[in-house]
Amino acid sequence: MAEVIFDHVTRIYPGNDKPSVDDLNLDIKDGEFLVLVGPSGCGKSTTLRMLAGLEEVNKGRILIGGKDVTTMQPKDRDIAMVFQNYALYPHMTVADNMGFALKIAGTPKDEIRKRVEKAAEILDLTEFLDRKPKALSGGQRQRVAMGRAIVREPKVFLMDEPLSNLDAKLRVQTRTQIAALQRQLGVTTLYVTHDQTEALTMGDRIAVIKLGILQQVGAPTELYDRPANVFVAGFIGSPSMNINVHPVINGEAKVGEDTLALPKEAVAKLTPEDNNQIIVGFRPEDASLAAPDDTNAFSLKVVNVEDLGSDGYIYGNIIQSDADKTMDTGSLMSDQNKLTTIRVNPRVLPKIGDIVKIKINPAKMHLFAPSTELRLN
Ligand SMILES: Nc1ncnc2c1ncn2[C@@H]1O[C@H](COP(=O)(O)OP(=O)(O)OP(=O)(O)O)[C@@H](O)[C@H]1O
Ligand SMILES: [Mg+2]
Repeated sequence: MAEVIFDHVTRIYPGNDKPSVDDLNLDIKDGEFLVLVGPSGCGKSTTLRMLAGLEEVNKGRILIGGKDVTTMQPKDRDIAMVFQNYALYPHMTVADNMGFALKIAGTPKDEIRKRVEKAAEILDLTEFLDRKPKALSGGQRQRVAMGRAIVREPKVFLMDEPLSNLDAKLRVQTRTQIAALQRQLGVTTLYVTHDQTEALTMGDRIAVIKLGILQQVGAPTELYDRPANVFVAGFIGSPSMNINVHPVINGEAKVGEDTLALPKEAVAKLTPEDNNQIIVGFRPEDASLAAPDDTNAFSLKVVNVEDLGSDGYIYGNIIQSDADKTMDTGSLMSDQNKLTTIRVNPRVLPKIGDIVKIKINPAKMHLFAPSTELRLN
């Protein structure tokens, strides 16, 4: 087992002018399950491949267990990888597939057998050890690929979207198994995914990355409850957070024809660059239907409703004032046109076309500065 440290690590691919991973500082504790999450092309695989030694590091250092491995050969790093395309050898049995790396390394036969049997037991593969991969289901094959990594008893596991070839139901099952397995084995793990639900359910901590730059690292609830910037706020959580730009007038946010009280400390942090505007975010579950005469509530024109049995969702447009329509909100304008989502009791759903009043739980408001997109409260 070992701690992993990325110390100001940068990767610029030959021919690119921008780094694919830019000055990454990340500390994965001994035995920790850290999930690296972000949209396609943000540098997740590059980060993982640098740790594996498959990709050159242009600046900075990588340490495993206190040892600088930045220029070390992949085979000397004592790590095991599980990829999305976990090609198994079709002509070999499950047992031989799992033990292959040990065989290459010259491990004695009975030692290989012992480790393979132990891994098979953990992964519930014992009865399949003599089968060929083609006689297994997708989920079972995926577990063989995990088994191949486990038998090596490495210091660090690296997993790059290992579940993306599985169907939705199997993915949910397997992610629970992998998380439980990692906890049982206690091996430091860096797990890559673009799926925020996977990140929230599996990780001890989550690192969110965008365009090669680390945005925030923290426990799932930390990222969910206190996203550090607009990107993390919008990326973590499903259905995603409602995020809109509003004018600030006399310390209050103007939401359509209505006003919303804002905490003084947050408003005080706005700068002239923010142009008397503020970004207000709130999750669908942190708002509710208000009485028609409620102050501190805003009007929403209902465009669609959904009854999922346990939950109801209202989708609507904030009714804009003329001031809003002329407001310059720059790049966030596209968010402004997005429907606002509110989770409610499915028994009290309004009708399409209704205008309802919505109030936000003030303790659950997320406020950001338009100029920096950083958190204010
Ligand atoms: N060999 C390469 N040469 C040049 N650019 C590359 C190379 N490999 C990756 N890139 C670029 O580096 C960036 C990061 O790629 P990377 O594969 O790390 O993304 P990712 O986060 O794993 O994405 P995905 O979720 O799609 O797998 C992308 O813009 C990609 O185009
Ligand atoms: Mg990738």
